[in-house]
Amino acid sequence: MAVKDIMDALKNESLQDIGLDKNLAQLVKDIKLVGEELNVLLELPKAGLEDVLRTKLEQALSEVKEVKRINVRFSKTPDQSAPSQQKPQIPLQQPMFTKRKVPGVRHIVVVGSGKGGVGKSTVSANLALALKKIGYKVGLLDADIYGPSIPTMLGLKGQRVTVNERNKIVPAEKFDMKVLSIGFMLPSEDTPVIWRGPMLMKALTQFLFDVEWGDLDFLVMDLPPGTGDVQLTLAQNVEISGAIVVTTPQDVALADVRKATSMFKEVQIPVLGVVENMAYFVCPETGKRYYIFGKGRTAEFAAAYNLKILGSIPIDPEVAERSDQGEPVVVSRPDSEVSRAFIGIAKLVAQQLG
Ligand SMILES: Nc1ncnc2c1ncn2[C@@H]1O[C@H](COP(=O)(O)OP(=O)(O)OP(=O)(O)O)[C@@H](O)[C@H]1O
Ligand SMILES: [Mg+2]
Repeated sequence: MAVKDIMDALKNESLQDIGLDKNLAQLVKDIKLVGEELNVLLELPKAGLEDVLRTKLEQALSEVKEVKRINVRFSKTPDQSAPSQQKPQIPLQQPMFTKRKVPGVRHIVVVGSGKGGVGKSTVSANLALALKKIGYKVGLLDADIYGPSIPTMLGLKGQRVTVNERNKIVPAEKFDMKVLSIGFMLPSEDTPVIWRGPMLMKALTQFLFDVEWGDLDFLVMDLPPGTGDVQLTLAQNVEISGAIVVTTPQDVALADVRKATSMFKEVQIPVLGVVENMAYFVCPETGKRYYIFGKGRTAEFAAAYNLKILGSIPIDPEVAERSDQGEPVVVSRPDSEVSRAFIGIAKLVAQQLG
């Protein structure tokens, strides 16, 4: 008795009565006759069919005297075994986290930079004021936990957070704009704070979701420099319309822009564009422009990385001076070249977000 004869016997055993358009031989993956013992590996087309298939096999071979014992094992079909062997598939385009929308806020725009000191806070404050000036309802949130400078820039030093009867944080109001800074929570602006992960995450989400923002078209957010925890926490938990990356034209700053933009892309926050700060100096006597850090570097860089330049802001000593006095340039010198540059950026941002 050869295995071939056993297979012939199995071919005659139809499986139609159990809903399979096959015969039993077609399920055999492996078969060995060792003395009087037959070892069979059968494909299991559906879970729960083990017993019925075993019985059918025994019936089909009941007349075969050479086979005294039958051992049956089952192998799963490729479809059945697939889920346990493969890693769970996460669709690439789908975020792994639940991003929440801040109630009442139409667009959150984050302002980031790869490097510190490039003018991120100056851009955040003046962009917010420029958006306000062209007719939008605006809020400004200073999320720079390491060095909140918005209170100084807007003349709100010493401001403290208050909570209303609905247990919501009430933002300050300045220049017809809602303002909240992590600095309002610190004992003094010079106190360094060490935020640990969960604490930081809680403070940030509270600063967005537990605030009486009212109805806003834009909430501009000043982020700490770099590509750290704050950026990630936000990206994973909050619906953000877009990011603006601030740089100066030096190589060192530009190299860090690359890191910042790829970080935003990775966490699926659209990069609206780059703001080139301290791009040139206008000589007050002659009106001539001096490109102190080099001309065209940012443009070259932006083209290489497919980034849009939203605007270039000149160096103006008055920007720093007025900032320190709590009078941002868009408010204090609305007709200056710097202010016009900020209005231009605000228009492009509003245009992009619709
Ligand atoms: N276009 C400009 N012309 C002149 N001074 C400027 C200009 N932009 C920014 N500054 C000044 O440069 C300094 C740094 O700017 P700012 O605080 O906005 O930078 P930042 O990127 O927020 O810094 P940090 O990393 O410390 O948060 C400030 O004193 C600011 O007033
Ligand atoms: Mg800053």
